[in-house]
Amino acid sequence: MDAIDVIVTKRDGRELSREQIDWVIDAYTRGVVADEQMSSLAMAILLNGMTRREIAEWTQAMIRSGSRMDWSALPGPTTDKHSTGGVGDKITLPLAPLVAACGGYVPQLSGRGLGHTGGTLDKLESIPGWQASLSNDGMLDVLREAGAVICAAGDGLAPADKKLYALRDVTGTVESIPLIASSIMSKKIAEGTGALVLDVKVGSGAFMKTVDRARELAMTMVELGTDAGVNTVALLTAMDRPLGRAVGNALEVTESVEVLAGGGPADVVELTVRLAREMLEAGGLTGGKDPEQALKDGSAMDVWRRMISAQGGDPDALLPRAAETMEITAPSSGVLSRLDAYGVGLAAWRLGAGRERKEDPVSFGAGIMLHVRPGDLVREGQPLMTLHADETARFERALTALEGAYVIGEAGDPDLLPLVIDR
Ligand code: URA
Repeated sequence: MDAIDVIVTKRDGRELSREQIDWVIDAYTRGVVADEQMSSLAMAILLNGMTRREIAEWTQAMIRSGSRMDWSALPGPTTDKHSTGGVGDKITLPLAPLVAACGGYVPQLSGRGLGHTGGTLDKLESIPGWQASLSNDGMLDVLREAGAVICAAGDGLAPADKKLYALRDVTGTVESIPLIASSIMSKKIAEGTGALVLDVKVGSGAFMKTVDRARELAMTMVELGTDAGVNTVALLTAMDRPLGRAVGNALEVTESVEVLAGGGPADVVELTVRLAREMLEAGGLTGGKDPEQALKDGSAMDVWRRMISAQGGDPDALLPRAAETMEITAPSSGVLSRLDAYGVGLAAWRLGAGRERKEDPVSFGAGIMLHVRPGDLVREGQPLMTLHADETARFERALTALEGAYVIGEAGDPDLLPLVIDR
């Protein structure tokens, strides 16, 4: 077998055999297949697609490129969620402790920000002392102690995906449903969770811009999970506007803590509670404490504090704040008909909440606080949002990203997506 044979098969629109898939993933992980050969194959897959069998075998080969985690030592079922990423999507932060407070074990391996979308690890690292890296035994200790753990995936988990994802990022081959589905599901299956709820985002701030594409991705991932013995469910949820009011690392941690204290923006609370119920049901954990109750009685907050402390963080510490702020006010009176997720995400990224190069640090305090939501009435001169940055020079670039991202009209936008579009 050689790489050219595999590339030509897919280039000519034919199906790859199981032997070809196993060989190419293993050889790429070992460095026998070169980056330029894999990037050519990834482009052929993006252009010609894959059958259901090919996607399943590709996913299994990526899982086998590393180790699989095992939580059978825990006294209860594991259940997890994965979001395909968005703007202001801090849901994992209140959700993992909430589900643990209702009886589930949540072994959540998370990532860092990608482009205009934020990353859970960057958000949590704004808490002084908090450590993202844990050994497998360290993860088990935190799970036993708190019921939930959020940390970085180790090098041994689906290393083929780690290499391939970095390659796709720089070769225009991210937006392929077979490659996205196999990338996400290889990591989630290798993580060893018993149940999985996928939050597939739709809209300008998401990878999937249309409901039809998001549905195809969701169905593909649900099939991959189910075939691997993971009880998998997917929701399609709105990412045409940002989620909640805070966008940026420490700002989103503060908003998450408000949710855990029984407050917080209505959309963040609604989605957190809905996903928690789905995770509990998928994990076979019905009949215990209801998530709404666990937010009100402080038990989810107790888990959060234990989880943060167990990873070296101080849950009472003051969070970093950006040195400079700038307020944007309404240029006219009317209804905020549009608040575009992509524009707001791009502006927060330029303010320093995300990275320009992958080795850059993020600014923990940078980001945007939104004071109005789509559909709200606004008066001329009323504050619409506050920009936070460490240097004033960043404001100008953020303002360019926000051009056209908010529109004040006579009525709300009838095309605004419902928060939960489908299950
Ligand atoms: N997230 C992943 O982990 N992989 C992809 O391909 C896209 C998003």
